[in-house]
Amino acid sequence: MASHLVVRACPPFRVPGDERALLDGPELERAQAMAARTREDFLAGRVAQRRFAAGLLGVEASDLTACYSCPRCGTGAEISHGRPGYLLRGAPAPLLLSLSRAAGWTLLAGVVDPDPGLRLGIDAEDPARTDFEGFDAVVLTPAEQADLAGLHGAALLRGRARLWARKEAWLKMTGTGLRTAPNTVDVRQDGQDGPAGRPGLRDLPGSETGLPAELVAAVALAVNS
Ligand SMILES: CC(C)(COP(=O)(O)OP(=O)(O)OC[C@H]1O[C@@H](n2cnc3c(N)ncnc32)[C@H](O)[C@@H]1OP(=O)(O)O)[C@@H](O)C(=O)NCCC(=O)NCCS
Repeated sequence: MASHLVVRACPPFRVPGDERALLDGPELERAQAMAARTREDFLAGRVAQRRFAAGLLGVEASDLTACYSCPRCGTGAEISHGRPGYLLRGAPAPLLLSLSRAAGWTLLAGVVDPDPGLRLGIDAEDPARTDFEGFDAVVLTPAEQADLAGLHGAALLRGRARLWARKEAWLKMTGTGLRTAPNTVDVRQDGQDGPAGRPGLRDLPGSETGLPAELVAAVALAVNS
């Protein structure tokens, strides 16, 4: 059976104290080191992700143990950052996961029983967050900067956010994240199939994510060779 992508947007919410117990020690330790606002968003995303994963697998959320993979630190239940994943009763759960937070929302993607070698990345962006001096130089390739040159105001911010979401989705899929400089990753649209040379990368419309219309999103689902 072809690997089937499921996408879900979760609106902003505050995790009640008793629900925090659903999370594992390393997740709660990481939350402890965060500023209050960031911590609330982090906890909401992690609880939403755990419930999403449990629903896809048809198990209880409490049966899962968070098991992250960082390109620098490795993989294991003691790692609470990097690519998300879970153990199910001690064995790797047969599930690809990706998460992104924007404007208090959490965007989740999952694939159960993925084909061998398949990788997943998702990203949501708030165009308002791209409104700063230096964005173009840090994030965009020269060709992308030229593409946006005629845009101003809201259209410019949306154009920037669109490219930024594609880049982060792609870099989560490859697993390197921002260890790869985003201004070296060209994600310009090239025909109907999405950016050239980046199979499986595409924009996600609000009708597919359930995110508010002002946010943009992209997904990458591909075999990472
Ligand atoms: C991945 C990354 C681009 C996301 O940045 P962001 O825009 O701030 O955040 P988003 O809300 O869109 O996504 C956050 C999620 O990305 C995922 N993520 C983080 N690193 C990831 C990686 N290497 N591969 C795939 N997904 C990753 C996690 O699920 C994270 O959720 P969490 O906060 O619950 O842990 C950025 O965090 C990054 O580059 N991280 C890796 C940097 C690195 O490797 N550092 C070495 C640490 S030792």
